[in-house]
Amino acid sequence: MGSSSLICDSESWKDLKFHVEDIKKTHLRELMADTERCKSMMVEFDGNLLDYSRQRATLDTLNKLLSLAEAAHVKDKINRMFNGERINSTENRSVLHVALRAPRDAVIKSDGKNVVPDVWGVLDKIREFSERVRSGAWVGATGKPLKDVVAIGIGGSFLGPLFVHTALQTDSEAIESAKGRQLRFLANVDPIDVARNIAGLSPETTLVVVVSKTFTTAETMLNARTLREWISSALGPQAVAKHMVAVSTNLTLVEKFGIDPNNAFAFWDWVGGRYSVCSAVGVLPLSLQYGFSIVEKFLKGAWSVDQHFYSAPFEKNIPVLLGLLSVWNVSFLGYPARAILPYSQALEKLAPHIQQVSMESNGKGVSIDGVPLPYETGEIDFGEPGTNGQHSFYQLIHQGRVIPCDFIGIVKSQQPVYLEGEVVSNHDELMSNFFAQPDALAYGKTAEQLLKENVPQHLVPHKTFCGNRPSISLLLPSLSAYNIGQLLAIYEHRIAVEGFVWGINSFDQWGVELGKSLASQVRKQLHVSRRKGEPIEGFNFSTTTVLSRYLQASADVPSDPSTLLPKM
Ligand code: F6P
Repeated sequence: MGSSSLICDSESWKDLKFHVEDIKKTHLRELMADTERCKSMMVEFDGNLLDYSRQRATLDTLNKLLSLAEAAHVKDKINRMFNGERINSTENRSVLHVALRAPRDAVIKSDGKNVVPDVWGVLDKIREFSERVRSGAWVGATGKPLKDVVAIGIGGSFLGPLFVHTALQTDSEAIESAKGRQLRFLANVDPIDVARNIAGLSPETTLVVVVSKTFTTAETMLNARTLREWISSALGPQAVAKHMVAVSTNLTLVEKFGIDPNNAFAFWDWVGGRYSVCSAVGVLPLSLQYGFSIVEKFLKGAWSVDQHFYSAPFEKNIPVLLGLLSVWNVSFLGYPARAILPYSQALEKLAPHIQQVSMESNGKGVSIDGVPLPYETGEIDFGEPGTNGQHSFYQLIHQGRVIPCDFIGIVKSQQPVYLEGEVVSNHDELMSNFFAQPDALAYGKTAEQLLKENVPQHLVPHKTFCGNRPSISLLLPSLSAYNIGQLLAIYEHRIAVEGFVWGINSFDQWGVELGKSLASQVRKQLHVSRRKGEPIEGFNFSTTTVLSRYLQASADVPSDPSTLLPKM
């Protein structure tokens, strides 16, 4: 297949299209009865077990998907990624988030230069800085230790670090090292988010970390100016140097903003925003909260999966198998969505993070060469921790639409609870659901079964479950920093594999630009209307009408206001 031809023209794609008809003739009940098939659909890596036997797939399907991977040159694309080639062609960048978690002695090159020493230069700087802050050697403008951190950032400069923070928060080792400290995340430009994030904090004991790859993102920069004002109005403008640091690729803008470049932590344009949690974007706030040594374990976990992804044969390669099965579900079986269902409250921010990684990466309409695609790409991701999801949207996934599910379970709870006299421990209770739900989806319940149970005839259709609903189950040994890193990397690479097969650029995000530029037009209009009473111009009828209503109804907003900060 030539580089500009589409994967849907390949023989492997066409073969899979025909194969769908065979699969439609089978039910997961029958597929699950084949023990040999199920046995070969279990993959283990470093204590993590993937069971994909509840996919609507046979061993033949798998072979065909592996041929599809070959036709799409997936192995070559993985190699090109690890070799630092500029595979993000529309931004002319390499894609090297794997270098962020590489050991000190690894060699990973971008443009012929080994980037690992630079990565470790920043990691060492973070280790040193976070230790000074945590030990109280670095103090605020009034001499008090900085025990609280507010990380300002949005999208990739927020969701990954929030996911890891939320997952670590209940780990006993992390609890110990975070004693007396708080880490908060300010993302939304909504002033309510500012109010919530500074509520109960004192500028005297707070360190603000401004996280922005570009240092131009409107939301982040306004929030950064707002907290700069919060600090300087309380402690004087000179306090900013002690209370604000930054993470960015744009150190010139960091300095222009007024943050000492010595207190800036760099990363590089070969790190995509949504793939940046292993850079200073995540490592700095997380090290301030938990100490660098715990964060280093997280990086090691991610690196272990990087190695597995790079070297394991595809039929035993967890991210590759998951990526191929996602393509199978979306492009062949026609299931556009995916539910991410961790049976762990600590993973409550996994779905929001993966929403960005997956949907910003793979929600594309053209191939990497700019050819409009005759097939849809990307998955609609959503999710909630089990069992909360069960009491919310599971009705739809059991009897309504077919949504392939990712069930994620943990063997050892971070916080075990046993009650004397209870049938099982609290974690076993949770995990009972983890084991039950995939089978309920796969097998369903037939009318015959219901009638045998004496269900009244008129309720039989309502109580019938057709089953045949696919899922994967991923069982992790525990939820330590190391395992959290592994889980992150599994998803990152799975998403890359999907994009490699679909032949798209999973590393750009042009689709976010149009809305931003229209918002800037509205911002200008709001400014001139409020300040000078100028009429609304240049918008369509609908926007003009609603904008006028907004302006009229908020006419009490002063036209030239003096600074007002939240009062919570
Ligand atoms: O929403 C678009 C986006 O560019 C994301 O890709 C990125 O993660 C986010 O904005 C934040 O960007 P930055 O880190 O440059 O502030």
